[in-house]
This record gives sequence, C-alpha cells and structure tokens, in this order.
Amino acid sequence: MKIRIYYFSSTGNTKCGLLMLQNNLTLMGHNCELLTVEKEDTIRDDCDLLGFASPVYGGCPAKIVIDFIERSKRFTHKVPAFTVLCPCSSIGYWGSREVFMDVLASRNIQVIANLGFLGNPSHPIVLGSLKKASTFIKSLFDGIGRPDSTDAAEIRDFSEKLITIYQDYSNGKKIKKPRYSRQKRWVSKIVRSREIALINSSSMKVLQDKCVQCGICQKECPVGALSLNPYPEKDLSKCFHCQKCINVCPKHALFPNNILQIDYYKGKAHPNEEFPNQHTEIREKHRKKSMLLRILSTGTGMVIIMMMQGITNKILIQRANPER
Ligand SMILES: Cc1cc2nc3c(=O)[nH]c(=O)nc-3n(C[C@H](O)[C@H](O)[C@H](O)COP(=O)(O)O)c2cc1C
Ligand code: SF4
Ligand code: SF4
Repeated sequence: MKIRIYYFSSTGNTKCGLLMLQNNLTLMGHNCELLTVEKEDTIRDDCDLLGFASPVYGGCPAKIVIDFIERSKRFTHKVPAFTVLCPCSSIGYWGSREVFMDVLASRNIQVIANLGFLGNPSHPIVLGSLKKASTFIKSLFDGIGRPDSTDAAEIRDFSEKLITIYQDYSNGKKIKKPRYSRQKRWVSKIVRSREIALINSSSMKVLQDKCVQCGICQKECPVGALSLNPYPEKDLSKCFHCQKCINVCPKHALFPNNILQIDYYKGKAHPNEEFPNQHTEIREKHRKKSMLLRILSTGTGMVIIMMMQGITNKILIQRANPER
C-alpha cells in the first residue's frame, strides 16, 4: 500500500513522530513517503492513503499547511486521509483537529483517522515564560521533552489501527467517524485570534553583536520571508510566525521583540539529524499529568479556560521590562 504524508515541522517534533510512523508502516510492508509542504505545489493522489501533519500554532494547524491544502485541486475520486497534529500541550488539540478536517473537506478529502502526539514547546513567548514559571504552569505544557517513548508506543498502536481502518473503509465497511466537536472548533477560533494577535505584536529583534551573517535563518525560512541586509530583515507579508528562524540561529541572535529571555535555546542540538536524540530523553518530572491538566483537557475545562481568558496573558507572558 502506498501512503503519502504532507507535513510541516519547524523545530522537528512533528517530523520526529512522523519518522516513527514511517518506520512502523515500512516494517508492516507499506511504502510511506514523507513530503514537506514547503516544496510541493499540489496534493498528488497517485497513492492509496494521504496524511497531513502539522504543529499547532494558535489553536490551528500551521498556515503553511492550510495554504497548501487550499491551493490544491479539489478531489474528484476518493483517496482517504488521516491527520497528524503535534501541539506542545494537550489543550492544543482543541479545535485544531476540527480546523484540519474542515480544510480537507473543502477539497473533498475524507478524514478516516486522526493521530496526535505532543512535542516540546517551540514558541519563544512560551519558552521565555516557562524558564521562570512555577511547576504548576510547567505542568500545563505536558509536551516538554516529547515526543518520547510514550508517543512512540502510541504511534506504533496507531500505525496498526490506521491500516485496519483503511481496509474496512476500502471494503465498504462502516468505520467509526473521527470525532468532530463544534464547541472545540469555536474555542479554537477564540484562542487563535488572541494568539495570532500576540504573535504578530512581537516583531523580530536582531542582536547585531551576536549575528555573524551566516544566512542560516534566511535559508531555513520556509516561505522566503527573510533577507540579509546585511542583518536579517523580515517581510511580514510572507511570514506566518512559525519561529523557525529564531529556533535555528546557531548564535541565538534572533529574539521576538519585547520578550525578556529565551536563553532556553542554549545548547539545543541542531541541525535536524540530531533531533531524535533530543526527543528520546524522557524527563520523568514533567511526564505525569497533573490533576488540573486532566480537568482542563475535558469539556468542563474548556469552560474554565474561557473564564480564565482575561488573565492568561498575564500568567503566561512575561514582557520585557523597559527599565532593565
Ligand atoms: C507561533 C507558535 C504558536 C504555537 N501555538 C500553540 C498552541 O496554540 N497550542 C499548542 O499546544 N502549542 C502551540 N505551539 C507549540 C508547537 O505546536 C509545538 O511546540 C510543536 O510540537 C512544534 O512542532 P515542530 O517541532 O514540528 O515545529 C506554538 C508554537 C509556535 C511557534
Ligand atoms: S542564523 Fe543567526 S547568526 Fe546567522 S544570519 Fe541569521 S541571525 Fe545571523
Ligand atoms: S521569517 Fe521566521 S517566523 Fe517568519 S516564516 Fe520565516 S522562519 Fe518562520
């Protein structure tokens, strides 16, 4: 069976999980191809099953993935699909699955299964805040140190289920519909607008004393939004705020403006080949889901989160103190 997965991964979490999935499917005798959306024009349907994978940005799959699906042709014959989402917190699944399914439905692509696994936070605003955050706040980011062996086991499980679901689907058997929650879709819309507004308000700062003008950030930007003049400059009309440039800079010379500290990045392994090491390490102290996180991951939690909306900015975001 031929499976083609289109994906985007900025800091490697999504890709790490996809490599596990690809490995499992290959061991099961299938041909699984991974293609990054940055290099593709349209979805090709010369396969049996399609996959779409993305990190979660502001309660939504990455804009680069959505844009790719939207610019692709509308399907006339049926190639079923599955989605893969990699947020940094269990709450990040909310609505992002629904947005993914909506966009695929607009191209007439039917989703038969969804996979989700957690990834290390990649958002500089969050990382800046996490550094000094309390254990409670850290526990909300249950993706710290992931994907790890827990995710590897779930991905293995999913690989087997996926093939069974596909076989039932293609034999005309009734399959269990993937869950779709209108309420979560609605929450996602609210979170997304807030999150995107926040990200947009944080323009990029270049520390010229650190930048060696190596051009790595420019080369790695998936949408060609950076130019060196002689220091990096950002074309905001192209940028979709994935923060890859900030994450890949070997000199830690890029920062979101007004964010106090992201020295979390120091010592982080690059380039991509090294990311599996980074992810296989299990950090036990962050692994256990707190009771609060369990509550927040439910419908009741959704109501609590909405009520907390007004104060979450203050809790999660540390703005730079201009006096310092
Ligand atoms: C701009 C931005 C916004 C993000 N928004 C969310 C979010 O709303 N929910 C969440 O759980 N994670 C969020 N994240 C974290 C990423 O989804 C997470 O770190 C993911 O694993 C990154 O995947 P990658 O390494 O494949 O790029 C955000 C990250 C960035 C850079
Ligand atoms: S990757 Fe960092 S050091 Fe290299 S050009 Fe970009 S900002 Fe400068
Ligand atoms: S400029 Fe940076 S944040 Fe914007 S799309 Fe390019 S890599 Fe991502």
